[in-house]
Amino acid sequence: MTNSIRCLTIAFCAVFFSGRGAAQIAPLIANINARQTTSLDGQWQAIVDPYDVGALDYRAQPLKNNHAFYKNYKPQSESELVEYDFDTSGQLNVPGDWNTQRETLLFYEGSIWYKRSFDYTKSPKNRLFLHFGACNYLSAVYLNGEELGEHEGGFTAFDFEITGRVRSSSNFLILRINNTRGREQVPTVNTDWWNYGGITRPVTLVEVPETFVQDYFIQLEKGSTHQIKGWVQLSGPKLQQNVTVRIPEAGLSKTIQTDSKGRSEFSFSADLTLWSPENPRLYSVQIASERDEITDRIGFRSIEVRGTDILLNGRPVFLRGITIHEEAPTRAGRAWSEDDARTLLSWAKELGCNFVRLAHYPHNESMLRVADQMGLMVWGEVPVYWTIQWENPQTLHNAENQLNEMIARDHNRAALIIYSVANETPISDARNHFLRQLIQEARSVDRTRLLSAALQAREVTDGKHITIHINDPIGSDLDVIGNNEYIGWYVRRPEDADSIDWISEFDKPLIMSEFGGDALFGYHGDPLTRWTEEYQENLYEHQILMLKRISFLRGMTPWILKDFRSPRRVLPRFQDYFNRKGLVSDHGEKKKAFFVLQKFYQELQSFHPPK
Ligand code: GCU
Repeated sequence: MTNSIRCLTIAFCAVFFSGRGAAQIAPLIANINARQTTSLDGQWQAIVDPYDVGALDYRAQPLKNNHAFYKNYKPQSESELVEYDFDTSGQLNVPGDWNTQRETLLFYEGSIWYKRSFDYTKSPKNRLFLHFGACNYLSAVYLNGEELGEHEGGFTAFDFEITGRVRSSSNFLILRINNTRGREQVPTVNTDWWNYGGITRPVTLVEVPETFVQDYFIQLEKGSTHQIKGWVQLSGPKLQQNVTVRIPEAGLSKTIQTDSKGRSEFSFSADLTLWSPENPRLYSVQIASERDEITDRIGFRSIEVRGTDILLNGRPVFLRGITIHEEAPTRAGRAWSEDDARTLLSWAKELGCNFVRLAHYPHNESMLRVADQMGLMVWGEVPVYWTIQWENPQTLHNAENQLNEMIARDHNRAALIIYSVANETPISDARNHFLRQLIQEARSVDRTRLLSAALQAREVTDGKHITIHINDPIGSDLDVIGNNEYIGWYVRRPEDADSIDWISEFDKPLIMSEFGGDALFGYHGDPLTRWTEEYQENLYEHQILMLKRISFLRGMTPWILKDFRSPRRVLPRFQDYFNRKGLVSDHGEKKKAFFVLQKFYQELQSFHPPK
């Protein structure tokens, strides 16, 4: 899309969304799948609108009349001019990225309007919310010709309350989704992943009582394996009331009193079987208020650092990981379903993993819940990726918002142990300040998890020895240091890893958050020939030898589980718009290096560190 259209789009956002009486994004409702819900997934009407004629007139002024697509207006007579019609404009699947649904949309960046009609009979006194799992990137939401509001960010969930706006029949819900890239955005214009646009995760109607349990946080207190510490937040007219938290399988029941803001903090001791990869024990936890009750499956574990060790439930652990992009395992496009999650995470389990890094943005909720069930620890990340506008307060606000939305959705998942605030960001004062804000924000809402970021240490050489020195100043603000390196692919030859040493400025655990090289599945040759499986295999063998020599290494997440689409990978035959660093091809075929890593992880599993 040309730059002038992008300016039009921004103009549209600035004018169209400022100062009007739209509903606001509601605080995220926890655990909606355990609620009374109605799915709006399926085939939606869709209008592809590259020039935003559905929102802006030819002077780039926002449309407010029936020409605005959100009005869904039909000509009242054969002579009336109306230049859009959802019902004859084709359909797109929801959830689903639009890029892999039509060949003409593979590279499409711009606006697409979606429409879904529905009838709904709500119980009197109950409230009704619209829940979106995620839409990439900018979403403008309308119901029955009225604006509800907008959301920015392609990878986190958001809700709108529609209690007073829904009618019993022929509601029409319209969304304008725009994935045009912008410098001020998070992520910004340059990513090594496909800019999949659309309503990429499920859309759900959620009906709740007038006063309901909007959110809760129930985990072990930081550093404890037997003290539960948490809070409950009610929403509605009757905020002060008794709420009971029960864990029947542990014989626990605690009644608390919410305050005038509907909130109650609590803490109580509990003798529980702790969650771990070896034993991913989840408990049924019930939170009941006067008119509402919600049940969740929650695991309890403690995660901390002590010097260069990472302690899970008080014991040192090595994180045998792999990095994953949110792409469907055996079909092109964004992953979103529980089946997708189960397939991807089963491959990680098959590798011998106890840990996965979900790159570079919050993945769908199924990934976290299946990781909980399967016993895989998780590194979650916000898309503060490469070079974003560090000095732009809007960009910081956006990044903080995405971080808060990620934490709000997943803060009860035992699997989630690390929040990463950035990937490969260039060192500068503005960047350090930006990242420190995010780290502070995360710590202020959740002190139980570890903070990290994927950094890029630089090599120092005296002509004979090569040493890589981890001394990025942001390291002092992190609990765990992540580091990406591509020795043997972007820099040096695979075997050079044999003589490279690592030193760190920080008495902290290191996770090698990326390393690897590309290989085209089925392309074979000698280990020096790029793109062959043998080259990748050889690279992994030398990497593993080097990693074993790093005394403060406590985890690794090689790049990457599966080949994935990237607009930066244009080499015919070998890339064809795919990053081929996967250990599994985009058709689910395992490459030779898959088995090199699997063998190493088997070795690690049988190794018991001296007490
Ligand atoms: C980077 C980056 C990834 C990218 C990878 C690569 O380090 O973090 O997003 O895909 O390297 O170049 O393959």
